Amino acid sequence: MNIADVTYLPEQPAHDPEIDDINAEAFGPGRFAKAAYRIREGGPHERALSFVAIHGGAVIASVRMTRIAAGRGRALLLGPLAVRPTFKNLGIGRRLVAIACEAAGVAGHGLVVLVGDEPYYGPLGFSRIARGQVTMPRPVDLNRLLANELQPGELAAFSGPVEHADLARASA
Ligand SMILES: CC(C)(COP(=O)(O)OP(=O)(O)OC[C@H]1O[C@@H](n2cnc3c(N)ncnc32)[C@H](O)[C@@H]1OP(=O)(O)O)[C@@H](O)C(=O)NCCC(=O)NCCS
Repeated sequence: MNIADVTYLPEQPAHDPEIDDINAEAFGPGRFAKAAYRIREGGPHERALSFVAIHGGAVIASVRMTRIAAGRGRALLLGPLAVRPTFKNLGIGRRLVAIACEAAGVAGHGLVVLVGDEPYYGPLGFSRIARGQVTMPRPVDLNRLLANELQPGELAAFSGPVEHADLARASA
């Protein structure tokens, strides 16, 4: 496998079946019970800010972004992020996170939030959200609730129950 043969593209609807398969393989049936999954059920994800890695014409990794809200704050929820097992540890996951965050910034978003492992995401610009600042619709390990401020100060307004941004707009 030559890493130079991996290309990165914005997600298209035609990628959906392969992405579903990659996420099923990576997370199993337990993914449906997660807090992030519950939030993502509230509305669509942002295809233009979601990316796939392609090798040999097949999708081998995916990252998605979904608009979310907490109080007056707005952010993108990063995830799921998953890489086919054969392609792990080649830098593809890190690259997808970097590409998605870069695209988010260019599109004018100021904050990216995720539930994930700090040792992995820390070097990519993420750090813990203060305990008690936000609540999730299902229990999460608060050490795994991370944020990356693309614009300084954006995290301060992101406070309270986290939900899909479309629901926040609907109830505003
Ligand atoms: C986590 C995942 C996306 C990483 O993608 P990847 O392309 O294999 O990772 P990269 O090549 O960018 O980075 C590899 C490095 O991250 C480390 N790493 C991988 N998963 C990690 C984790 N959960 N916590 C800390 N470090 C981790 C690897 O040990 C490796 O370290 P090294 O560079 O020092 O050798 C991939 O392993 C995967 O799909 N896992 C299953 C789904 C999952 O857990 N997704 C993340 C949910 S938040």
